[in-house]
Amino acid sequence: MSFVTHLECANCGQRYDAALIHNLCTACQRPLWVRYDLPALKAAFPKRKLAGRPPTMWRYLEMLPVRDAVHIVSLTETVTPILETKRLASHFGVERLYMKDESRLPTGSFKSRGMAMAISKAKEFGITKVAVPTAGNAGGALAAYAARAGMEAFVFMPDDTPVINQKECFLAGAKTFLVNGLITDCGRIVGEGKAKKGWFDVSTLKEPYRIEGKKTMGLELAEQFDWELPDVILYPTGGGTGLIGMWKAFAELDALGWLTSPKKPRMISCQSDGCAPIAEAFRKGERFATKFENAATIASGIRVPAAVGDFMILDAVRESGGVAMATPEADIPRWMQLAASSEGIALCPETAVCLGALEVLLAQKKIKPDERILIFNTGAAQKYPEAVREKLSRLDCTKPIDWEAI
Ligand SMILES: Cc1ncc(COP(=O)(O)O)c(C=O)c1O
Repeated sequence: MSFVTHLECANCGQRYDAALIHNLCTACQRPLWVRYDLPALKAAFPKRKLAGRPPTMWRYLEMLPVRDAVHIVSLTETVTPILETKRLASHFGVERLYMKDESRLPTGSFKSRGMAMAISKAKEFGITKVAVPTAGNAGGALAAYAARAGMEAFVFMPDDTPVINQKECFLAGAKTFLVNGLITDCGRIVGEGKAKKGWFDVSTLKEPYRIEGKKTMGLELAEQFDWELPDVILYPTGGGTGLIGMWKAFAELDALGWLTSPKKPRMISCQSDGCAPIAEAFRKGERFATKFENAATIASGIRVPAAVGDFMILDAVRESGGVAMATPEADIPRWMQLAASSEGIALCPETAVCLGALEVLLAQKKIKPDERILIFNTGAAQKYPEAVREKLSRLDCTKPIDWEAI
């Protein structure tokens, strides 16, 4: 049933047998792509086959790596809505501004797509113990899907990770550790523990399948836009799986002949100036990013000072004609409030940086007001109480109410 042919190193091209368990390329320690027999897929999977399938990410099963659907571990990864945002559009002076709201997914972020896929594949391989370093949401998603699959999960997160992420991992029964460092330090611990504890490392891009889950964002939005992709996509970038996965989806859809126009969106990789390794590398014209020192941002999911897939993000951005850029950390609360108060969309702090990027790119005329612009809300604001610091007014109900003050 699967159209997977092999795995292939994104850097040196080394091929691997997809029937075996792999992490990184053993030759150069870089990520592996999942490759498909696209001509066979094209013949066997016309897009009319989608009609009547349930509205979840599994509707694209033939384009995904799970060999036998009995291994799917799911909490119902619903097709997320694309909301047209008229008030926000008029704030920015653009005609068509859309928000794909990933906060509706199980565990409240797009991380569920990748973890649903990674855990389904882990189950197919008979893996029973999984571990992950996390900036927050990936840990929450791993904990939930491991619980759903009956697997043991180990989660390592910086000790200042949003408290909701800490608690969701605990509740889902993952062995959860707070580490006095950054996600890169957590990643080192997971790597060291692999041999000692016998767990499978599901770190971002260190196994091949999370990205295939993220790919469904691109498949979904293409179908939602009736196979004519938007002109610009703004995406908050940490480890990069979201952006890379979507770019892979567009290439595969093109090969299948499903897109009505071969024109692809310009991919805008958005970071905070508190942690901007990809934006820096883009600015300097480099393919590999330098580790960002003293990374600090309230947008915890994009506090990734060094990404193993840096070159994959930068390649995708450049191929698409897009940019990687950073916007001020200090503006994050303002953008969160603007989106929630003008549209009712509870924007996560990671996505807030995309609004900053949109403002700059419009001013620089790199995005035109009549283009179709899509922003991903990658998670729910409700997971970040720390990002909203304002104190609310108090009322003393034992005294007469001062109505003038209301
Ligand atoms: C809400 C949110 N947005 C964006 C990101 C960044 O995603 P990626 O690692 O795919 O670049 C993360 C990662 O943790 C996240 O939790």
